Amino acid sequence: MRALRSTTELGLAPDFQGKVREIFDLGQQLLIVATDRISAYDVVMNEVVPGRGVVLTVMTLAWLDFFRDVPNHLLTADPEAFPPRFRCLRDELGGRSMLVRKAQRLPVECVARGYLAGSAFKSYQREGAICGIALPPGLSLAQQLPEPIFTPATKADVGHDENIDFAHAARLLGDADAAAARDFTLRLYAAAARYAAPRGVIVADTKFEFGRVGGQLVLIDEVLTPDSSRFWPAGAALPGREPPSWDKQILRNHLDACGWNRQPPPPALPAEVLARTAARYHEVLALLFPAEVTRWRPFLS
Ligand SMILES: Nc1ncnc2c1ncn2[C@@H]1O[C@H](COP(=O)(O)OP(=O)(O)O)[C@@H](O)[C@H]1O
Ligand SMILES: [Mg+2]
Repeated sequence: MRALRSTTELGLAPDFQGKVREIFDLGQQLLIVATDRISAYDVVMNEVVPGRGVVLTVMTLAWLDFFRDVPNHLLTADPEAFPPRFRCLRDELGGRSMLVRKAQRLPVECVARGYLAGSAFKSYQREGAICGIALPPGLSLAQQLPEPIFTPATKADVGHDENIDFAHAARLLGDADAAAARDFTLRLYAAAARYAAPRGVIVADTKFEFGRVGGQLVLIDEVLTPDSSRFWPAGAALPGREPPSWDKQILRNHLDACGWNRQPPPPALPAEVLARTAARYHEVLALLFPAEVTRWRPFLS
Protein backbone atom coordinates (compact mmCIF):
# COMPACT_ATOMS: atom_id res chain seq x y z
CA MET A 1 0.00 0.00 0.00
CA ARG A 2 1.11 3.52 -0.74
CA ALA A 3 0.85 5.93 2.16
CA LEU A 4 -0.44 9.38 1.24
CA ARG A 5 0.42 12.56 3.09
CA SER A 6 -1.14 14.96 0.59
CA THR A 7 -2.60 14.82 -2.89
CA THR A 8 -0.04 17.49 -3.81
CA GLU A 9 2.45 14.57 -3.92
CA LEU A 10 0.40 13.31 -6.85
CA GLY A 11 0.62 16.63 -8.67
CA LEU A 12 -2.90 17.67 -7.64
CA ALA A 13 -3.93 21.02 -6.19
CA PRO A 14 -6.80 20.60 -3.71
CA ASP A 15 -9.22 23.48 -3.19
CA PHE A 16 -9.43 22.79 0.55
CA GLN A 17 -7.08 21.04 2.95
CA GLY A 18 -8.48 19.99 6.31
CA LYS A 19 -6.45 18.28 8.98
CA VAL A 20 -7.06 14.94 7.27
CA ARG A 21 -9.17 15.43 4.19
CA GLU A 22 -8.44 17.25 0.94
CA ILE A 23 -11.30 18.44 -1.21
CA PHE A 24 -11.58 19.17 -4.90
CA ASP A 25 -14.47 21.42 -5.85
CA LEU A 26 -15.93 20.19 -9.14
CA GLY A 27 -18.87 22.60 -9.24
CA GLN A 28 -21.92 20.51 -8.40
CA GLN A 29 -19.74 17.75 -6.98
CA LEU A 30 -16.84 17.36 -4.60
CA LEU A 31 -14.06 14.80 -4.63
CA ILE A 32 -13.13 14.14 -1.01
CA VAL A 33 -9.79 12.42 -0.44
CA ALA A 34 -8.84 11.14 3.03
CA THR A 35 -5.08 11.29 3.47
CA ASP A 36 -3.08 9.26 6.00
CA ARG A 37 -2.39 12.29 8.19
CA ILE A 38 -3.24 12.01 11.88
CA SER A 39 -3.68 14.68 14.52
CA ALA A 40 -3.40 14.48 18.27
CA TYR A 41 -4.43 17.25 20.64
CA ASP A 42 -5.47 19.20 17.51
CA VAL A 43 -1.96 19.17 16.03
CA VAL A 44 -1.22 17.31 12.80
CA MET A 45 1.74 14.96 13.13
CA ASN A 46 4.65 15.07 10.68
CA GLU A 47 4.42 11.36 9.98
CA VAL A 48 1.50 9.49 8.43
CA VAL A 49 -0.31 6.34 9.54
CA PRO A 50 -0.28 4.20 6.40
CA GLY A 51 -3.78 3.26 5.29
CA ARG A 52 -5.57 5.39 7.86
CA GLY A 53 -7.39 7.39 5.18
CA VAL A 54 -8.49 4.18 3.49
CA VAL A 55 -9.90 2.78 6.73
CA LEU A 56 -11.81 6.03 7.43
CA THR A 57 -13.25 6.05 3.91
CA VAL A 58 -14.11 2.34 3.72
CA MET A 59 -15.82 2.58 7.11
CA THR A 60 -17.87 5.58 5.96
CA LEU A 61 -18.87 3.70 2.81
CA ALA A 62 -19.88 0.65 4.84
CA TRP A 63 -22.08 2.70 7.17
CA LEU A 64 -23.66 4.56 4.22
CA ASP A 65 -24.54 1.17 2.79
CA PHE A 66 -25.83 -0.01 6.18
CA PHE A 67 -28.07 3.10 6.25
CA ARG A 68 -28.98 2.86 2.58
CA ASP A 69 -32.55 4.01 3.28
CA VAL A 70 -31.21 7.41 4.44
CA PRO A 71 -30.46 9.90 1.64
CA ASN A 72 -26.72 10.70 1.51
CA HIS A 73 -24.20 12.61 -0.58
CA LEU A 74 -22.32 9.67 -2.11
CA LEU A 75 -22.20 9.39 -5.89
CA THR A 76 -19.41 6.84 -6.22
CA ALA A 77 -16.23 5.60 -4.59
CA ASP A 78 -15.22 3.67 -7.69
CA PRO A 79 -12.12 5.44 -9.01
CA GLU A 80 -12.94 4.20 -12.53
CA ALA A 81 -15.96 6.51 -12.40
CA PHE A 82 -14.00 9.61 -11.26
CA PRO A 83 -13.30 12.48 -13.67
CA PRO A 84 -10.25 11.73 -15.91
CA ARG A 85 -7.57 13.61 -13.97
CA PHE A 86 -8.44 11.55 -10.88
CA ARG A 87 -9.17 8.32 -12.73
CA CYS A 88 -5.59 8.14 -13.92
CA LEU A 89 -4.53 8.11 -10.24
CA ARG A 90 -6.89 5.24 -9.39
CA ASP A 91 -4.21 3.20 -7.59
CA GLU A 92 -3.30 6.14 -5.35
CA LEU A 93 -6.82 7.49 -4.75
CA GLY A 94 -8.86 4.27 -4.69
CA GLY A 95 -10.32 3.30 -1.32
CA ARG A 96 -9.68 6.76 0.13
CA SER A 97 -11.80 8.94 -2.11
CA MET A 98 -15.48 9.65 -2.58
CA LEU A 99 -17.18 11.59 -5.33
CA VAL A 100 -20.14 13.29 -3.65
CA ARG A 101 -22.90 15.74 -4.35
CA LYS A 102 -21.95 19.19 -3.07
CA ALA A 103 -24.39 20.14 -0.35
CA GLN A 104 -25.22 23.28 1.50
CA ARG A 105 -24.01 22.27 4.94
CA LEU A 106 -26.37 22.77 7.89
CA PRO A 107 -24.48 25.04 10.32
CA VAL A 108 -24.88 22.58 13.19
CA GLU A 109 -22.88 19.49 14.10
CA CYS A 110 -25.34 16.76 15.01
CA VAL A 111 -23.98 14.79 17.94
CA ALA A 112 -25.58 11.75 19.56
CA ARG A 113 -24.27 10.48 22.88
CA GLY A 114 -25.01 7.20 24.58
CA TYR A 115 -22.27 7.58 27.19
CA LEU A 116 -21.01 10.49 29.25
CA ALA A 117 -17.61 11.68 27.99
CA GLY A 118 -15.68 14.67 26.69
CA SER A 119 -17.36 18.07 26.76
CA ALA A 120 -20.63 16.48 27.91
CA PHE A 121 -18.99 15.20 31.08
CA LYS A 122 -17.46 18.63 31.76
CA SER A 123 -20.83 20.30 31.28
CA TYR A 124 -22.49 17.69 33.51
CA GLN A 125 -19.97 18.35 36.27
CA ARG A 126 -20.59 22.08 36.00
CA GLU A 127 -24.36 22.18 35.71
CA GLY A 128 -25.80 18.65 35.78
CA ALA A 129 -26.93 19.09 32.19
CA ILE A 130 -25.65 19.14 28.63
CA CYS A 131 -27.17 21.23 25.83
CA GLY A 132 -30.07 22.04 28.13
CA ILE A 133 -30.82 18.36 28.78
CA ALA A 134 -30.88 17.65 32.52
CA LEU A 135 -29.27 14.35 33.46
CA PRO A 136 -29.83 12.31 36.61
CA PRO A 137 -27.45 13.03 39.50
CA GLY A 138 -24.56 10.72 40.36
CA LEU A 139 -23.40 9.78 36.85
CA SER A 140 -19.70 8.98 36.39
CA LEU A 141 -17.35 9.64 33.50
CA ALA A 142 -17.88 7.00 30.79
CA GLN A 143 -21.18 5.87 32.24
CA GLN A 144 -23.97 4.86 29.88
CA LEU A 145 -26.80 7.40 29.79
CA PRO A 146 -30.37 6.35 30.59
CA GLU A 147 -31.07 6.89 26.88
CA PRO A 148 -29.09 8.42 23.99
CA ILE A 149 -29.33 12.19 23.72
CA PHE A 150 -28.98 14.74 20.91
CA THR A 151 -26.36 17.38 21.76
CA PRO A 152 -25.95 19.78 18.83
CA ALA A 153 -22.93 22.06 18.49
CA THR A 154 -21.96 24.95 16.28
CA LYS A 155 -18.85 24.45 14.22
CA ALA A 156 -16.26 26.96 15.42
CA ASP A 157 -13.87 28.34 12.79
CA VAL A 158 -11.12 28.23 15.37
CA GLY A 159 -10.94 26.26 18.58
CA HIS A 160 -13.50 23.83 19.86
CA ASP A 161 -17.11 23.44 18.81
CA GLU A 162 -19.65 25.08 21.06
CA ASN A 163 -22.47 22.98 22.49
CA ILE A 164 -25.91 24.54 22.08
CA ASP A 165 -29.39 23.59 23.21
CA PHE A 166 -32.09 22.37 20.89
CA ALA A 167 -33.88 25.73 20.86
CA HIS A 168 -30.67 27.39 19.65
CA ALA A 169 -30.30 24.73 16.93
CA ALA A 170 -33.90 25.37 15.90
CA ARG A 171 -33.16 29.09 15.55
CA LEU A 172 -30.19 28.30 13.29
CA LEU A 173 -31.86 25.59 11.22
CA GLY A 174 -35.56 26.29 11.46
CA ASP A 175 -37.89 24.04 13.44
CA ALA A 176 -38.42 21.47 10.70
CA ASP A 177 -34.74 20.89 9.84
CA ALA A 178 -33.74 20.89 13.51
CA ALA A 179 -36.30 18.21 14.30
CA ALA A 180 -35.34 16.19 11.22
CA ALA A 181 -31.63 16.41 12.04
CA ARG A 182 -32.27 15.37 15.63
CA ASP A 183 -34.47 12.44 14.66
CA PHE A 184 -32.02 11.19 12.01
CA THR A 185 -29.11 11.57 14.44
CA LEU A 186 -30.74 9.59 17.23
CA ARG A 187 -32.03 6.92 14.87
CA LEU A 188 -28.67 6.42 13.14
CA TYR A 189 -26.80 6.39 16.45
CA ALA A 190 -29.12 3.80 18.00
CA ALA A 191 -28.87 1.50 15.00
CA ALA A 192 -25.08 1.83 14.83
CA ALA A 193 -24.59 1.24 18.57
CA ARG A 194 -26.82 -1.83 18.38
CA TYR A 195 -24.83 -3.17 15.41
CA ALA A 196 -21.41 -2.48 16.94
CA ALA A 197 -21.90 -3.73 20.52
CA PRO A 198 -22.00 -7.48 19.79
CA ARG A 199 -18.92 -6.97 17.59
CA GLY A 200 -16.91 -5.70 20.53
CA VAL A 201 -17.14 -1.97 19.85
CA ILE A 202 -18.94 0.57 22.02
CA VAL A 203 -20.00 3.65 20.09
CA ALA A 204 -19.92 6.11 22.98
CA ASP A 205 -20.88 9.08 20.83
CA THR A 206 -20.73 10.27 17.25
CA LYS A 207 -21.12 13.38 15.14
CA PHE A 208 -23.09 13.57 11.91
CA GLU A 209 -23.29 16.37 9.41
CA PHE A 210 -26.26 17.02 7.19
CA GLY A 211 -26.63 19.20 4.15
CA ARG A 212 -29.17 20.25 1.63
CA VAL A 213 -29.01 19.18 -2.01
CA GLY A 214 -31.84 20.69 -3.97
CA GLY A 215 -34.79 20.36 -1.64
CA GLN A 216 -33.50 17.27 0.13
CA LEU A 217 -31.79 16.89 3.50
CA VAL A 218 -28.91 14.43 3.07
CA LEU A 219 -26.26 12.85 5.26
CA ILE A 220 -22.83 14.23 4.28
CA ASP A 221 -19.19 14.07 5.38
CA GLU A 222 -17.69 11.02 7.11
CA VAL A 223 -19.97 8.66 8.98
CA LEU A 224 -19.30 6.78 12.22
CA THR A 225 -15.53 6.65 11.88
CA PRO A 226 -13.03 6.74 14.75
CA ASP A 227 -12.46 10.41 13.77
CA SER A 228 -16.09 11.43 14.13
CA SER A 229 -16.92 9.12 17.04
CA ARG A 230 -15.65 7.77 20.33
CA PHE A 231 -15.16 4.06 19.84
CA TRP A 232 -14.29 2.13 22.99
CA PRO A 233 -13.30 -1.52 23.23
CA ALA A 234 -16.24 -3.35 24.80
CA GLY A 235 -15.27 -4.34 28.30
CA ALA A 236 -12.78 -1.48 28.65
CA ALA A 237 -15.47 1.05 29.54
CA LEU A 238 -15.54 1.26 33.31
CA PRO A 239 -17.51 4.14 34.79
CA GLY A 240 -15.23 6.63 36.51
CA ARG A 241 -12.30 6.74 34.12
CA GLU A 242 -11.74 7.71 30.51
CA PRO A 243 -11.64 4.48 28.52
CA PRO A 244 -8.73 4.08 26.09
CA SER A 245 -9.48 5.55 22.68
CA TRP A 246 -9.62 2.75 20.14
CA ASP A 247 -7.36 4.38 17.65
CA LYS A 248 -5.37 7.21 19.22
CA GLN A 249 -4.39 5.84 22.63
CA ILE A 250 -1.03 4.47 21.53
CA LEU A 251 -0.14 7.81 19.97
CA ARG A 252 -1.40 9.85 22.93
CA ASN A 253 0.48 7.65 25.40
CA HIS A 254 3.66 8.11 23.40
CA LEU A 255 3.20 11.88 23.17
CA ASP A 256 2.46 12.14 26.88
CA ALA A 257 5.56 10.09 27.71
CA CYS A 258 7.65 12.43 25.52
CA GLY A 259 6.58 15.36 27.68
CA TRP A 260 5.45 17.23 24.56
CA ASN A 261 3.70 20.53 25.39
CA ARG A 262 0.93 19.92 22.79
CA GLN A 263 1.99 22.95 20.74
CA PRO A 264 3.43 22.69 17.24
CA PRO A 265 5.86 21.40 16.16
CA PRO A 266 5.04 17.85 17.21
CA PRO A 267 7.86 15.46 18.12
CA ALA A 268 9.11 12.87 15.65
CA LEU A 269 7.23 9.57 15.99
CA PRO A 270 8.90 6.15 16.05
CA ALA A 271 7.91 3.77 13.25
CA GLU A 272 6.70 1.31 15.87
CA VAL A 273 4.10 3.78 17.23
CA LEU A 274 2.85 4.44 13.70
CA ALA A 275 2.66 0.73 12.87
CA ARG A 276 0.76 -0.12 16.05
CA THR A 277 -1.62 2.78 15.44
CA ALA A 278 -2.23 1.62 11.86
CA ALA A 279 -3.01 -1.86 13.20
CA ARG A 280 -5.69 -0.41 15.52
CA TYR A 281 -7.51 1.16 12.57
CA HIS A 282 -7.45 -2.08 10.63
CA GLU A 283 -8.63 -3.93 13.71
CA VAL A 284 -11.75 -1.87 14.27
CA LEU A 285 -12.66 -2.03 10.59
CA ALA A 286 -12.24 -5.81 10.64
CA LEU A 287 -14.45 -6.13 13.72
CA LEU A 288 -17.23 -3.96 12.32
CA PHE A 289 -17.10 -4.78 8.61
CA PRO A 290 -14.99 -7.88 7.88
CA ALA A 291 -16.42 -8.25 4.38
CA GLU A 292 -15.19 -4.75 3.48
CA VAL A 293 -11.65 -5.69 4.45
CA THR A 294 -11.76 -8.41 1.82
CA ARG A 295 -13.44 -6.20 -0.76
CA TRP A 296 -10.98 -3.30 -0.35
CA ARG A 297 -7.88 -5.43 0.34
CA PRO A 298 -5.88 -4.06 -2.65
CA PHE A 299 -6.08 -0.57 -1.13
CA LEU A 300 -5.81 -1.63 2.52
CA SER A 301 -2.64 -3.71 2.45
N1 LIG B 1 -21.34 16.67 0.44
C1 LIG B 1 -20.73 17.71 1.02
N2 LIG B 1 -21.01 18.97 0.62
C2 LIG B 1 -20.39 20.03 1.18
N3 LIG B 1 -19.49 19.97 2.17
C3 LIG B 1 -19.16 18.73 2.61
C4 LIG B 1 -19.76 17.56 2.08
N4 LIG B 1 -19.25 16.49 2.73
C5 LIG B 1 -18.37 16.99 3.62
N5 LIG B 1 -18.32 18.33 3.57
C6 LIG B 1 -17.45 19.23 4.34
O1 LIG B 1 -16.11 18.93 3.98
C7 LIG B 1 -15.24 19.11 5.07
C8 LIG B 1 -14.42 17.85 5.30
O2 LIG B 1 -13.12 18.17 5.59
P1 LIG B 1 -12.41 17.81 6.96
O3 LIG B 1 -10.97 17.56 6.70
O4 LIG B 1 -13.18 16.75 7.68
O5 LIG B 1 -12.56 19.20 7.66
P2 LIG B 1 -12.95 19.60 9.12
O6 LIG B 1 -11.62 19.88 9.78
O7 LIG B 1 -13.80 20.82 8.90
O8 LIG B 1 -13.71 18.46 9.75
C9 LIG B 1 -16.11 19.45 6.27
O9 LIG B 1 -16.08 20.84 6.48
C10 LIG B 1 -17.51 19.03 5.84
O10 LIG B 1 -18.51 19.82 6.41
MG1 LIG C 1 -14.23 16.50 9.46
